[in-house]
Amino acid sequence: MSAERKSGLLRRWRERMPPEVGNSILSLGEGATPLVELKGIGARLGGGRTVFAKFEGANPTGSFKDRGMVVAIAAAAERGAKCAVCASTGNTSASAAAYAARAGMACAVLIPAGKIASGKLAQAVAHGAEILQIDGDFDDAMSAVRELEGDGDAAVVNSINPMRIHGQKSAAWEICEELGCAPRVHALPVGNAGNITAYWRGYLENHLSGGGGLPKMLGCQAAGAAPFLRGAPVENPETAATAIRIGNPQSWDGAKRAELESGGRFVAVSDSEILREQKYLASREGLFCEPASAASVAGLLATCESEPEFIPEECLIVCTLTGHGLKDPDIVGVPEPKIHSADADSLRKAL
Ligand code: F0G
Repeated sequence: MSAERKSGLLRRWRERMPPEVGNSILSLGEGATPLVELKGIGARLGGGRTVFAKFEGANPTGSFKDRGMVVAIAAAAERGAKCAVCASTGNTSASAAAYAARAGMACAVLIPAGKIASGKLAQAVAHGAEILQIDGDFDDAMSAVRELEGDGDAAVVNSINPMRIHGQKSAAWEICEELGCAPRVHALPVGNAGNITAYWRGYLENHLSGGGGLPKMLGCQAAGAAPFLRGAPVENPETAATAIRIGNPQSWDGAKRAELESGGRFVAVSDSEILREQKYLASREGLFCEPASAASVAGLLATCESEPEFIPEECLIVCTLTGHGLKDPDIVGVPEPKIHSADADSLRKAL
């Protein structure tokens, strides 16, 4: 049996996969990502709270999108689609481009002009996708893509495609398997709201099949792009966390269901809180995630401060770190390192 056959979601969760994927074994080795304890964040929360990060940056294209994309592309290939299409703030396009390449399909991605992180654009280019830059934001690109739905040879692989949500449930299954139970609170960034929808369904399915309790879902938004806090779409969303710069989330109902059924919350955090926690995670916990991912930790800390009873003492918490920090190197602002002569004496002085 080849290594490809042994790894990946379609094989690992075969019995939970939808019939649309047939016997596909499409895989880039996605899923089974690390669950890493965040000791520093736990100490900052206090009260014996234990925090884990689900580090989705360890997926093959560096984000959680690979979980849903492998299922969406496998199903599209099974029905004979020739081209994958998506609107994206960057990660969906990188993932679609990679899995389409693997499956021998063409790929076209619609991205908001000037608002996608350089690593993500590089991935789409490298995987050979057709890149259509839109004069507008993600929400404009998404409306355009919606009109292409149902066009014969093209498969829309945004999270309005139910296959995407299906694959993304696997992260909740993995967490329950590894912890031996569901966490008490699960925090994650929310943009188009597919992922919070998927996690909640994943936890529910596990629960209904006897797999333990249910977490309260904490949906974390950037303050400048926080439609769930406002209770309505936001025009002209703005945030440095470009992945979640979205004002009109497509999975509105799924996310509201996650909030209401889990007894959860939405919380908004400022860009400075997001960037502070991104830096903390990299420099103190050793995990380099992109800005949007750090919204989960920033949202958790803010909620624990404003509403400590929401996060009981001695409880288990999971934060999803949705994408790798290498996706967006520019946000770190890499300074030109000082040049030293390569002799031991001057290096000793510099140390
Ligand atoms: N974190 C990252 C790194 C993302 O790329 C996204 C969404 C989210 C969080 C939010 O997830 O949309 O399911 O609520 N990125 C999409 C994209 C929109 O096009 O790559 P969501």
